[in-house]
Amino acid sequence: MSDETTDETTDPTADRVLDPATGAPVTRATIDLPDADAARALGAALAGVLRAGDLVILTGDLGAGKTTLTQGLGAALGVRGHVASPTFIVAREHPPLPRPDASRGPGLVHVDAYRLGGLDELDALDLDSSLDESVTVVEWGRGLAEALTEDRLEIDLERPRGGVHVGPGEGADAGLGPDPEAGTRRATLRAVGPRWADVDLAALTRTLPHTVARDS
Ligand SMILES: Nc1ncnc2c1ncn2[C@@H]1O[C@H](COP(=O)(O)OP(=O)(O)OP(=O)(O)O)[C@@H](O)[C@H]1O
Ligand SMILES: [Mg+2]
Repeated sequence: MSDETTDETTDPTADRVLDPATGAPVTRATIDLPDADAARALGAALAGVLRAGDLVILTGDLGAGKTTLTQGLGAALGVRGHVASPTFIVAREHPPLPRPDASRGPGLVHVDAYRLGGLDELDALDLDSSLDESVTVVEWGRGLAEALTEDRLEIDLERPRGGVHVGPGEGADAGLGPDPEAGTRRATLRAVGPRWADVDLAALTRTLPHTVARDS
């Protein structure tokens, strides 16, 4: 699915972008995340719309902020354990903590797909958590999930300046900041399938502090 943006077609009757493979509706939003807190805030905002059984596919280079965003999601969902990079363990389960009213929301299953041959292998991992009762976040999941699930939220994280921090007032030529990890990420959200048809991602991103939302 590396060419999904160019392949999308617009349905003139619904004024909606359609996924070329499935014909399912696609909603999109793009948002700039100036720092790690902004990435966590996006994750937290997504907790407000994600429900048990949802699948989130995170794409982005090493250090793009996939785990950082997931930390914000996990904190806002109220799940147990520290959300860290799942590298070397394939999948980490974070069960839901009881809420003040004793109800429980979805848990979080955080997957590193780098080592998975396909998402169907998740079943073989024999997780304690049921994926139906959890929000499943897959880092490096592109190319694995599309055939399996019609409904999914894809988030691409890019560093427009290649990870080089250019602070306010430094000018376009300043270039080299002290911390190569710092700097704005651009998140492109693309929600595919009927489950997402009524979710306004652009409105969700506009509610975030310290972020610049753009309609795409
Ligand atoms: N705008 C930003 N968004 C997200 N992270 C940022 C941002 N600016 C700086 N950072 C920092 O960049 C690092 C991102 O690391 P993180 O582990 O989240 O990346 P990752 O995409 O999960 O990497 P990996 O592919 O190794 O799993 C963190 O140290 C975070 O604090
Ligand atoms: Mg990571």
